[in-house]
Amino acid sequence: MPEGKMEKIVSWAKRRGFIFPSSEIYGGVAGVYDFGPRGVELINNLKQLWWKRFVTDRDDVVGIDSAILMSRRVWQASGHEKGFSDPLVECKKCHARFRQDRIENPKSKIQPVSPQARRGGNPKQIQNSKSQIQNKCPECGGELTEAKQFNLMLKTYLGPVEEEKNLTYLRPETAQGMFVNFKNVLDTSRQKLPFGIAQIGKSFRNEITTGEYLFRVREFEIAEIEYFVQPGNDEKWFDYWLGEWKKFLLDLDISEKNLIEYQHSKKDLSHYSKRTVDYNFRFPFGEKELTGVANRTDFDLKNHEEFSGQDLKYFDEASGKKYWPYVIEPTLGIGRLALAAICDAFEEISGGRSGAEGAGEEEVVMHFAPKIAPVKVAVLPLVKKLSEPAKKIYLDLKKCYVSEFDESGTIGRRYRRQDEIGTPYCITFDFDSLKDKKVTVRDRDSMKQDRVEIDKLSQFLWGKLGK
Ligand code: GAP
Repeated sequence: MPEGKMEKIVSWAKRRGFIFPSSEIYGGVAGVYDFGPRGVELINNLKQLWWKRFVTDRDDVVGIDSAILMSRRVWQASGHEKGFSDPLVECKKCHARFRQDRIENPKSKIQPVSPQARRGGNPKQIQNSKSQIQNKCPECGGELTEAKQFNLMLKTYLGPVEEEKNLTYLRPETAQGMFVNFKNVLDTSRQKLPFGIAQIGKSFRNEITTGEYLFRVREFEIAEIEYFVQPGNDEKWFDYWLGEWKKFLLDLDISEKNLIEYQHSKKDLSHYSKRTVDYNFRFPFGEKELTGVANRTDFDLKNHEEFSGQDLKYFDEASGKKYWPYVIEPTLGIGRLALAAICDAFEEISGGRSGAEGAGEEEVVMHFAPKIAPVKVAVLPLVKKLSEPAKKIYLDLKKCYVSEFDESGTIGRRYRRQDEIGTPYCITFDFDSLKDKKVTVRDRDSMKQDRVEIDKLSQFLWGKLGK
């Protein structure tokens, strides 16, 4: 992790209750993180906005919540058991292990083989690039072993006996839960093509290299849609979903200048994909995949039909024909989205903002879009004597918005504390409030202050924040 902005973000996220290392009191677990009180509000906002936009606001998408544990046959049919792997090398001298295609050697300018390649990417491509591959250990310069394919699925056993017949995996993607429920959804929701199944859920991958904070972890949430279309209409729908995905990111205030569209070359495509386009994001540690859209063709339904012996074709009433629909899959990692939103929102102002109390000190302001900010409103009595009437306002607002009440320290310090977690509005109750029944509403970004009648406060905030 390079020094600088990213280190500051990691320290801020811990200090302000957004992200904690997992099992920290035992030294942590590599590639696993917990969301703290502010972090969980942030990711819940992202998930709720996603769900509303792509499921409940639409007539052509239904949601499901399938189990993390599935039959091992699912992963055989999907190709994950055979092919969901990364090339692993080990140093013969110090025994450190690396993902071969991610070893960078600044001296020889050797770049990772395919930084963009999705999992299950074409093994031939890895083979063909052998000549460019770095074979010295980046830690000690020792010789590296030949690459072995290392399967990324986390194994587990169902039942009390750890034997082969009880083996299965923690799911590495949520998509398969939607494919195996294709018929159930068709039979119970009366959807007709084109239609989609969506879900948000935990996925697990035993990543070889971690260390890019939330970007590459071993346990994470994916929000994805499997959108079933008539073969032949797939390219049109691909472009449609690519556009919808981008609009969603921009509506969260992910800055357009940090989003880069990246089309996978034919040789980089996953085994199931006819076309994949990612939106990469300029993270402080480099340009990396944030999200993507893939054309999975009829690969999954066809394979599940073959492995399960169940008919997974769609009967098209209009043409009287039966066929496997093609699938367009827009997919998004919630943790990566949260990290992108944090990186975009983070501003450190050395010397503080002019006019703000504590000028001269470093100040962090998180410019989250109000709809994703973990705390929407903070109520601050000017002095403790005014806590009682201020608390009444707080308790009222709390029914609608995640709110905080803070009565300790100078008012300037309290504004700064809220700026640091990205609270869009602070409400100050002062001595005049007792007489004129008005409070001061301060805007996080402009620091502009409005005097608003207490009776009209909900209306005022509604206009700014929505529900
Ligand atoms: N169903 C398709 C699929 O799983 P993917 O590109 O392998 O595609 C989907 O993963 C999304 O999940 C990615 O776009 C990325 O946002 C996120 N993701 C993948 N691996 C991740 C990891 N190790 N840590 C955090 N997020 C990850």
